[in-house]
Amino acid sequence: MSTSTDTPAHVAIVMDGNGRWAERKNRPRTFGHQAGLKALRKIVEHCGNIGVQELTVFAFSSENWKRPEKEVNRLMELFMRALDRETKELHENGVRVRFIGDLSAFSPEMQHKIDLAMRKTGDNNRLILNVAANYGGRWDILNAARKAARAYANGEISIDQINETYFSEQTSLTAGHDPDLFIRTGGEMRISNFLLWQSAYTELYFTETLWPDFGPEAMDRALAAYRSRERRFGLTGEQLRRSSAQGS
Ligand code: IPE
Ligand code: IPE
Ligand code: MG
Repeated sequence: MSTSTDTPAHVAIVMDGNGRWAERKNRPRTFGHQAGLKALRKIVEHCGNIGVQELTVFAFSSENWKRPEKEVNRLMELFMRALDRETKELHENGVRVRFIGDLSAFSPEMQHKIDLAMRKTGDNNRLILNVAANYGGRWDILNAARKAARAYANGEISIDQINETYFSEQTSLTAGHDPDLFIRTGGEMRISNFLLWQSAYTELYFTETLWPDFGPEAMDRALAAYRSRERRFGLTGEQLRRSSAQGS
């Protein structure tokens, strides 16, 4: 976790606004999702170049299944195509791809492609890209609670061992690497069931820019806003200044 005002180690993005972007152009919403994929490609590349270590993007929420069947089907097709087409390039660029969410709801074919992508890129370390698919923050917390309960029932841990670190390790993201910066495009100021546990101290940034229009320059504006923040984690500003003067 980055406590300073440097480049955030971990950025989380709610890539919202694809549908409205397309509707404004009198095109079907799916056209917006395609444009959204292009925007993601550029942002992944940019993050790799500027030293972001981990990028977590919200691609499909556990609530998005409730959308019209046609839109859901087109999104699934787009994910499948993206897995086929993007994995090689991501691998060549040193990106490790991980999927977080309840993947069991996806077709066996898609689960297979996800598995291949994760295995192929598993040893890369330039940038970790976590794709949240059929993800919900409450699901993540419940899942972690179930894992802890199971470990307790099996006699593997005591109640006292269920602390923040242990619990974090049971969630979908790596413990100790909570997002430093949360970005939501598309103008809505809500979390929409994204990383509820992990964003306890994440800096929040909202922009009206619709996701397909969110390029490296817009990202740099978000990073500049992040750098201007003072992350106090409950301390006073004076305490922070004193500890940074002492070089700790
Ligand atoms: C985000 O864009 C992408 C997904 C949820 C898959 P939306 O599709 O929510 O776009 P808007 O919010 O309707 O414009
Ligand atoms: C959040 O966007 C989920 C993704 C970007 C994948 P939504 O468009 O689903 O969020 P709400 O419905 O406006 O809260
Ligand atoms: Mg939306």
